[in-house]
Amino acid sequence: MDLVGAVKAILAALKYYLPAYVANGAPVVFKGKTPIDGGRYFIDGRRLLGDGKTWEGLIAGILAGTSTAAILSLILGEANLLILGFVASTSALLGDIAGSFIKRRMGIERGKPAPILDQLDFFVATTVGLYLMGVDLSLDVVFGLALVTLGLHKTTNYLAYKLGLKEVPW
Ligand code: CTP
Ligand code: MG
Repeated sequence: MDLVGAVKAILAALKYYLPAYVANGAPVVFKGKTPIDGGRYFIDGRRLLGDGKTWEGLIAGILAGTSTAAILSLILGEANLLILGFVASTSALLGDIAGSFIKRRMGIERGKPAPILDQLDFFVATTVGLYLMGVDLSLDVVFGLALVTLGLHKTTNYLAYKLGLKEVPW
C-alpha cells in the first residue's frame, strides 16, 4: 500500500473509531466524583481502580461517544454506525478502566504515567469490540491508527493541561 492509500484507509476507519476517541476524552471534561471501585482495595493493598475512574466519567463517555456515533450515522446514512459506536465507546471506557486496574497492580498511582498503556488501553479494547461486532479492519490500518493515537494523545493531553482540564500534561 502506498502512503496515499494508507492515509485513505485510516481516514475510512475513523468512522468506526471516532466515537471511541470522544468517549475516551469526555471524562476529562465531565470529571466525576463517585469512584467505580467504591474506594475499595485489592488483595495487594492498593486501590482496585483508584479515584480517576468514576461512574460519572463512564456514563458521560458512553453518552458522548454514542451521540457522536448518532451524528456520524445520520451524516453518512449508515444506520449500523450507531450500534457500532455505542459498542466502541463502551469498549473504550472498559479498556481505560482495565488500564487503571493494571496500573494499580504495577504499583503506579492514580494519575502517574504509564507510557503506551495510558495511550493505547482504550484503543486496544475498542479494536477488540469492533472486531467482535464483525467490523473488518486490516492489521495495517489498526497499526497505523495506533501510531496516530499515540501522537494524538500527546497533543490533546497537552491541550487539556493548558486549558486547565488536567493537572499533568500526560
Ligand atoms: N475520568 C473519570 N471517569 C472515568 C475516566 C476518567 O472521571 N471513567 C476523569 C478523571 O477525573 C481522571 C481524568 O478523567 O482523572 C483523566 O483520565 P485518566 O487519565 O484515564 O485517569 P488518571 O487520573 O490518570 O488515572 P489512572 O492513573 O487510573 O489512569
Ligand atoms: Mg492518566
